[in-house]
Amino acid sequence: MTAPERTLLSVIFVPVLLIIPVFLTAGEPVSEAPRCAVEMKADSILNLLTLEEKVALLHANSKFTSTGVPRLGIPELASADGPTGVREELERDSWEPLNLPTDSATFFPAGPSLAATWNVGLARRYGEALGEETRARGKDILLAPSVNIIRTPLSGRNFEFFTEDPVLNAEIAVAYIQGLQSRDVAACIKHYAVNNQEFNRWRVDVLMNERTLREIYLPVYRAAVERAHVLSFMGAYNKFRGWYLCENDYLLNDVLKKEWGFKGIVISDWGATHSTIDAAMHGLDIEMGSRGDYSSYHFADPLLKAVREGDVPVSVIDDKAKRVLYVMLRCRTMSEDRQQGSICTPEHFKTAYDVAAESIVLLKNTDSVLPVQVQKIRKLAVLGENAVHRHAIEGFGAGVKTKYEMTPLEGLKKKLGDRVEILFAQGYREKYNFLETGMRWRIRVPDNDPDSVLIREAVEVARGSDAVIIFGGSNRTIESEASDRRDMALPFGQAELIRAVTAVNPNTVLVLIASAPYDLTAVEPVTSAILWGWFNGSEAGSAMADVLTGDVNPSGKLPFTMPVRLEDSPAHALDAYPGEDNAVYYKEGVLVGYRWFDTRNIDPLYCFGHGLSYTDFTLSSFKTDKTVYGQDESIQLECRVKNTGHREGAETVQIYVHDTKASVLRPSKELKAFQKVVLKPGRQQTVRFSLNIRDLAFYDDMRREWKVEPGQFELLFGTSSRDIHGSMMIDVE
Ligand code: BGC
Repeated sequence: MTAPERTLLSVIFVPVLLIIPVFLTAGEPVSEAPRCAVEMKADSILNLLTLEEKVALLHANSKFTSTGVPRLGIPELASADGPTGVREELERDSWEPLNLPTDSATFFPAGPSLAATWNVGLARRYGEALGEETRARGKDILLAPSVNIIRTPLSGRNFEFFTEDPVLNAEIAVAYIQGLQSRDVAACIKHYAVNNQEFNRWRVDVLMNERTLREIYLPVYRAAVERAHVLSFMGAYNKFRGWYLCENDYLLNDVLKKEWGFKGIVISDWGATHSTIDAAMHGLDIEMGSRGDYSSYHFADPLLKAVREGDVPVSVIDDKAKRVLYVMLRCRTMSEDRQQGSICTPEHFKTAYDVAAESIVLLKNTDSVLPVQVQKIRKLAVLGENAVHRHAIEGFGAGVKTKYEMTPLEGLKKKLGDRVEILFAQGYREKYNFLETGMRWRIRVPDNDPDSVLIREAVEVARGSDAVIIFGGSNRTIESEASDRRDMALPFGQAELIRAVTAVNPNTVLVLIASAPYDLTAVEPVTSAILWGWFNGSEAGSAMADVLTGDVNPSGKLPFTMPVRLEDSPAHALDAYPGEDNAVYYKEGVLVGYRWFDTRNIDPLYCFGHGLSYTDFTLSSFKTDKTVYGQDESIQLECRVKNTGHREGAETVQIYVHDTKASVLRPSKELKAFQKVVLKPGRQQTVRFSLNIRDLAFYDDMRREWKVEPGQFELLFGTSSRDIHGSMMIDVE
């Protein structure tokens, strides 16, 4: 068929297309309609498009949109950055904010905070709220969640990611995506895949064995496709086994599209496309970028040329264009009754509060310093720059122009200001030195020289107070996209501040606001109570004040291991970070995070899954339904949790598995399931889990399949990876 004939045909079909939206709105929402019906609709629209129109769907036409088909009333596909809130409006062709009075959004707690709640229901609410805000801003895709495994404490983007563990990662991500997509928005899970360091991310070739890939790095993506039906993927900047991720035939075509049956679109990270023919043939669908000359993009004129010259078959273009239409239909971009969303509502701020409150981790509480005994205090010293620092927009990359962000000092004043005299001293100064990167920008590295004047002033305030709370930690300039930290040092000389203050007032609580491990060796021994506070969103200050004063009982659990020293963590112990000659080999294999620490018997400062409460719990009555299982069976297991203390609280029961004998090196334990229960004092509850025997498998590199070797497995019931209360032995035939 010639181009004019096609155009003519499409004109004839316009009335048909105009009927489609009506048809779509008539029955159940398309987002819930059977997927094959949506595919058929995508096919029928595809038949109306010219080659030029199809190619136009496949590349950016502004910073955050790709072209629609104006002739047929098909709108642009518009995205916005997440993952912790909908990014403000930027100029169409630059990174400059438009400074609109109408584009504020809720700042939701960052990735590890959400994972630290270990609350899947809350992750779903988080996704729903984000979906509503995305729609209210008229966008179709939220570029979130950000799910790369936390492999090294230093990765600049750990503050966006969830965890070091693949099961916790998948559970949180699936709920987040389901929530988001229930609001007629497409999630864009990123960054596929193995983008675990920011250092040299544009070039580094990431290498590992297949087993490591399958057991640690891919499960979250597979779960997103198979369980959450995620609609889009973002291809990462780095390479994997020699190929850039946006032209990686193995990961995009073989694994994602063929093996997992992904029907949505693969979008490049901004400027991550390096070729036309390879990228087109190897599975990329849409090229996004930062340059303004959109027609010169690999997937614009060069792609059209490649098709005309026979280097890329039309069928490949059809497949991509159909995927774009499929995503549009599934999030109902052409439907009149598409959900319109809402933004900055009290409900969204409440969700942000609930996540923040449940994410705060009580790391240490000797002598029951916490909760702060408000009735016994007249003067409270609040020290440290992080008591007044806002974290919504900072560093490189996306932030959130939030309507408000309550700081810890504001939260405490609001809560206690009428009863307690609150004295603030800055304690340390945020200051930086600049480091050349060899790229177009320099990175800021913290200057760790203590400020003796500020320390002296803070010590005086602490000396005259009944209780002290120090807010230290980090910020989003230090933990930022595009650069890794150079070490785990607590920045700005704050260790000296903490030591000096605790020496004059032992009634001191340390609150660390950060989203990655820091070296606490100098401060942990001198501090009786430590709370981990994260970059916790719009309601960070009120949630923190409620936990400090005991109105909220902390229930967060660490989603990553806090090592004593950087050299204890696997990638650093094995000198497998950041790689050399533009390649990094993940020598630790599957021994990531606690899998390494436990198997190698290295004590962390705080282990994965650790988090205390103001009450106490016991676990007892450990049971499995049988003792011998076949390969296709499932295990029903249960235990009883009792709140033996005097306050209501929540405990997360964590089920780990230990394969007692295997033909390959297996981690000494692996998380397989978890559940959070809320209990009033004195109450108990039976917690039940169901595990498939298949969940106990390892990936057999040689045979390229999952394998459960017959033999004994130990099922461990814990409240952290190192606090195991009981176990059951089972046999697999
Ligand atoms: C980041 C992505 C982000 C994109 C658009 C890239 O630098 O890696 O996560 O979505 O920019 O802002």
